[in-house]
Amino acid sequence: MTNRTYLSPPHMGPDERALLLEAFDSNWIAPLGPHVDAFEREIAAKVGVPHAAALSSGTAALHLALRILGVGRGDEVIASTLTFSATVNPIVYEGATPVFIDADRETWNMDPALLEEELAACAKKGKLPRAVIAVDLYGQCADYDRILAACARYEVPVIEDAAEALGATYRGRHAGSFGAMGVYSFNGNKIITTSGGGMLVSGRKDWIEKARFLATQARDPAPHYQHSQLGFNYRLSNLLAAVGRGQLRVLDERVARRRAINASYRRLLGGVPGLAHMPEAPYGGANCWLTCITIDPRAFGAGREDVRQHLERLDVESRPVWKPMHLQPFFEGCRVRGGAVAAGVFEHGLCLPSGSSLPDSQVARIAGEVRALHRS
Ligand SMILES: Cc1ncc(COP(=O)(O)O)c(C=O)c1O
Repeated sequence: MTNRTYLSPPHMGPDERALLLEAFDSNWIAPLGPHVDAFEREIAAKVGVPHAAALSSGTAALHLALRILGVGRGDEVIASTLTFSATVNPIVYEGATPVFIDADRETWNMDPALLEEELAACAKKGKLPRAVIAVDLYGQCADYDRILAACARYEVPVIEDAAEALGATYRGRHAGSFGAMGVYSFNGNKIITTSGGGMLVSGRKDWIEKARFLATQARDPAPHYQHSQLGFNYRLSNLLAAVGRGQLRVLDERVARRRAINASYRRLLGGVPGLAHMPEAPYGGANCWLTCITIDPRAFGAGREDVRQHLERLDVESRPVWKPMHLQPFFEGCRVRGGAVAAGVFEHGLCLPSGSSLPDSQVARIAGEVRALHRS
């Protein structure tokens, strides 16, 4: 046992345990089975998208989405720069090149005006991107009215990376339901988890069937093993799908708790000079996966790293906001439109412990410690 406070640990309940044991006892110990089928149906119903494929990770879901759209060597794919590398790595898996768009100061998500500019510039050059990947960062939806309109004008499909945003909404609709395909992650740190896992959702049945086919080694319908396409081993285990079904039952509670934690941090850290919160856009309800703050060292009297290291000494995990992709050595040389907003958010941004099992007393303690650093 450890007293460490983690950023976003798993939060399990009795249903998850019962369903896992049921799956175990049924001997469906495979990347297929009744829980996989049911988890797909239940996620699809929850988010209001007709079809879903349960996969081994969110990264696998993004990879298959790109493959299904036919992204390949020589293509460009536009993505938000302020994100986790898993959003963009699959672009490189497919031999394509990422093009990065800066974040909007008001949402920390892809700036729709810069996206429009980039698409117009691409059209002028006669080389449109093969796809756009929009990310719903830290559980807040990107501005889909504007992003979808811009992409529709140039007939570029949108993949929605809602890995962090299950349970969030945009104008009353669920995160993950906006793009041609949507992606969720059930990694151990997410709002609900299967330890590792992901889901690809789409209104197109043929695409989801294709995803299932590619994810099971692309076996042609034949009694022997026959392959006419390159396949992957990307399906979700039946055991993990059972855990996911239990987690899905409490998703609304988990969202409510993370939102309450976010509200507490906002209240307890209100009025501190130089300390601001990630803006919440008026167009939707974030799931508040992680509560993020920014610290202006001059006004606050200490920097982001001072705060992080102070919390670390108290055995409290906090993390800098994602380092933008255009600043990553691996993506050096990739084109970026803007970049200063994302760079600033990275320089000053910190994610605070936000797990749904975090007690109020801990939220108050962490907020108190951060507050005390102001001009300490
Ligand atoms: C924005 C984003 N995209 C993609 C992923 C990849 O998901 P996974 O870890 O399930 O592969 C993650 C999280 O890990 C993420 O935060």
